[in-house]
Amino acid sequence: MTAAVHTRSSADLISAEEPVLAHNYHPLPVVVARAEGTWVEDVEGRRYLDMLAGYSALNFGHRHPALVAAAHRQLDRLTLTSRAFHNDRLAEFAERLAALTGLDMVLPMNTGAEAVESGIKVARKWAYEVKGVPADRATIVVAAENFHGRTTTIVSFSTDETARAGFGPFTPGFRIVPYNDLAALEAAVDDTTAAVLLEPIQGEAGVVIPDEGYLTGVRELTRRKGCLFIADEIQSGLGRTGRTLAVEHESVVPDMLLLGKALGGGIVPVSAVVARRDVLGVLRPGEHGSTFGGNPLAAAVGTAVVELLETGEFQHRATELGVVLRDGLSELVGKGVLGFRARGLWAGVDIDPAFGTGREIGERLLREGVLVKDTHGSTIRLAPPLTITEDELSGALGALEKVLTRG
Ligand SMILES: Cc1ncc(COP(=O)(O)O)c(C=O)c1O
Repeated sequence: MTAAVHTRSSADLISAEEPVLAHNYHPLPVVVARAEGTWVEDVEGRRYLDMLAGYSALNFGHRHPALVAAAHRQLDRLTLTSRAFHNDRLAEFAERLAALTGLDMVLPMNTGAEAVESGIKVARKWAYEVKGVPADRATIVVAAENFHGRTTTIVSFSTDETARAGFGPFTPGFRIVPYNDLAALEAAVDDTTAAVLLEPIQGEAGVVIPDEGYLTGVRELTRRKGCLFIADEIQSGLGRTGRTLAVEHESVVPDMLLLGKALGGGIVPVSAVVARRDVLGVLRPGEHGSTFGGNPLAAAVGTAVVELLETGEFQHRATELGVVLRDGLSELVGKGVLGFRARGLWAGVDIDPAFGTGREIGERLLREGVLVKDTHGSTIRLAPPLTITEDELSGALGALEKVLTRG
């Protein structure tokens, strides 16, 4: 990485944002100017280990050479057609993504929230046309503490008051049940139910992993009751947990998968609804769309991402280094860490409030050259790029121990 050259300091750039940028985030006080692999560099040239990886959008690290090369090749040829015309990159992307996930058809979108919205629309349409639910009566069952995005419909079934307050009226048609509770799910699903929509691991809730057997139970229940199982793998998918998909830990195949974040390789927003033919097949021309969804640049980067995942290397790394992460965190339990949940290279770490809030721990780690993000007050989330080395991971765990034990 070459040194950053800047005429404005971090402090200057942070205060310049204040009057002109909507205050919907509260970022840590670091202004990133460059990045490569697992490392980012601020405008003063200080380096930080990235233990957040863009909320898993950077599973392959910053500017992975194969992804950047694919983007450059495509930038020099064709970037956007709209779906008014075919483009020569989309078929391969869809074919390979469907093959990677074991499903049949792909609906390309851009952001995660758009994939969720699209999945909801497809599930409702499927309910009316295939299942025979009376018009406008379809329901979708979701879990408490979910995070599926920020649109009006999606916050309609959020249980996070901060995400909802002031944004009503909300979209009807959702039932909320406790996560990891099959009996509650059984009671909520009825003849109007189009789908059960769940995160196989709840990311924003603090990497909440359901009991072994829960996902298998959801699969069995949805099949028996004749509704769809939609797995939102926007954060848990694409290598993060040590498998291509988190549902693979229980060998479950959902009817519909929602993917995003890492599908764009940290370069462009790429998301997708991937489903069986009898489900996605309900869409006909004009019923749904997106100007940018499936654009050739996104398809080229997405195909390169699928190619990386086809090697199995990243899933393998997440599994192997996940052991190092788990062992390191186990050492910290009772020394500032109350407990943690981890799968692959993904952990939610509950900090003992006596040692500081999640935000304070994040600020202290920043001073040690490590970037993390707090969630829900006293939990920090660790989700490094899957390219991280064992030494780098050990360094991050050492920094966490230092800020917990020495402040
Ligand atoms: C599980 C899940 N679904 C959906 C989203 C929304 O994705 P986006 O921010 O790209 O709209 C997120 C983002 O964190 C997520 O974690």
